[in-house]
Amino acid sequence: MSMPRTPGRIFADGPPDLAEILVAALRAPQIDEETADSLTHPFHTYPARLHPATARILVELVARNAAPSDMIVDPFCGSGTVLVEARAAGFRSLGVDLNPLACLVAHAKTWTVTQRRRMELRDTAARIGRQVLEAGKSARRANAEPSPLRKPRGFDPNARDRRLAAWFQPHTRRELELLATLVDEIHEDDAELGDVLLACVSAILYKVSSRSSDTDGTWIDRNVPRGNAARLFVQRAIGLADGLDDLSYQQGEQPKIHEYDARGLGDLVAPGGAVGIITSPPYAGTYDYAEHQRLRFDFLCLRHRAMDEGEIGSRRSFANNSREALVRWRTALAETVATIAKALVPNGFAALVVGDSVVSSHAVYALDDLRDALTDDLQLAAWASQERPMLGSIERTAFGERYKAEHIVLLHRRP
Ligand SMILES: C[S@@+](CC[C@H](N)C(=O)[O-])C[C@H]1O[C@@H](n2cnc3c(N)ncnc32)[C@H](O)[C@@H]1O
Repeated sequence: MSMPRTPGRIFADGPPDLAEILVAALRAPQIDEETADSLTHPFHTYPARLHPATARILVELVARNAAPSDMIVDPFCGSGTVLVEARAAGFRSLGVDLNPLACLVAHAKTWTVTQRRRMELRDTAARIGRQVLEAGKSARRANAEPSPLRKPRGFDPNARDRRLAAWFQPHTRRELELLATLVDEIHEDDAELGDVLLACVSAILYKVSSRSSDTDGTWIDRNVPRGNAARLFVQRAIGLADGLDDLSYQQGEQPKIHEYDARGLGDLVAPGGAVGIITSPPYAGTYDYAEHQRLRFDFLCLRHRAMDEGEIGSRRSFANNSREALVRWRTALAETVATIAKALVPNGFAALVVGDSVVSSHAVYALDDLRDALTDDLQLAAWASQERPMLGSIERTAFGERYKAEHIVLLHRRP
């Protein structure tokens, strides 16, 4: 998560009542051990996920004078942490992300449906799990035909097969393919439930693969027992349904989630339509969402061209000419700030979580860049920064006398 549990020195500035809340939001991951395990938060991993305890405090902050009909917006919603917290607090919300996987996961985590539908999620997952386990047993009998690979419509099955060949042990691959095929069948009649089940398949992929995790590309020898993929899938679906039960105690609408470029937020939110904005834009050159999620894109067959082309600040975009990439990143940040200023209601607050990074041996100070991107409409109200450990000598040299930090920046829209 972007807010680790490691403590670090905290610096803050601004009116004491606001600065203190930002400090509490930075400290929350180190002292709050419950929020991250509550609701649907534990459902799916996601790189640089906002800590749920931080999101909870920021929702309270930006929505302190809001009514339930008011809307909270996260233009880089990722796996939907802010949307879950906004939904739990009873507010309408809207999330945007260019990553199709982010939208699939955020939608599943905020699925606002009747209890009957949540039971259907549990029952359907259990039935699919049983079918996959049964097929596994039959496959071990003499002369058994292995179940065929999934054939998703509109994708070349051979190319997909080649891309996925190294990722799983053969028996796990067969289980996963059958799981996904059965989910496809549900999708034909009930696309909404099919999408939620597909998110459950996504949630277990790395756990049964030959890679450490989605952010660690190390190949490992993972011995996955037969039937494990099916069992994990069912557990994940039941855990999600339980989390959705808890979320449904609070009345509220299903958050609107758009697979879209955050810089086009104005196409989705009317001027002044957001009572508060909470977001964590990508850090410069730190992650590569399109790369980290290639297995999931390939396995689930998610179309990701727009993400490959439009991802802001990706590590790969800094690979060739880092000076130009930095200019592009700062431009994207300025465009984002401008769209936030338009979407935010006069007198409203936007809380941005940003982090320092290093690109080509140079330190990038996110707080400085954000200050430079501000407009007359959007002013700095308060900030809090927490020192983060340096990762190796390149970072120590790049930051020199200054510290590396993660910041929560509170912006105020002019009345
Ligand atoms: C730091 S993550 C957000 C994580 C999120 N707060 C969570 O808790 O899961 C940044 C997100 O920005 C998204 N992103 C990158 N470029 C984008 C763009 N041009 N428009 C919209 N989203 C983008 C990435 O896909 C990623 O999900």
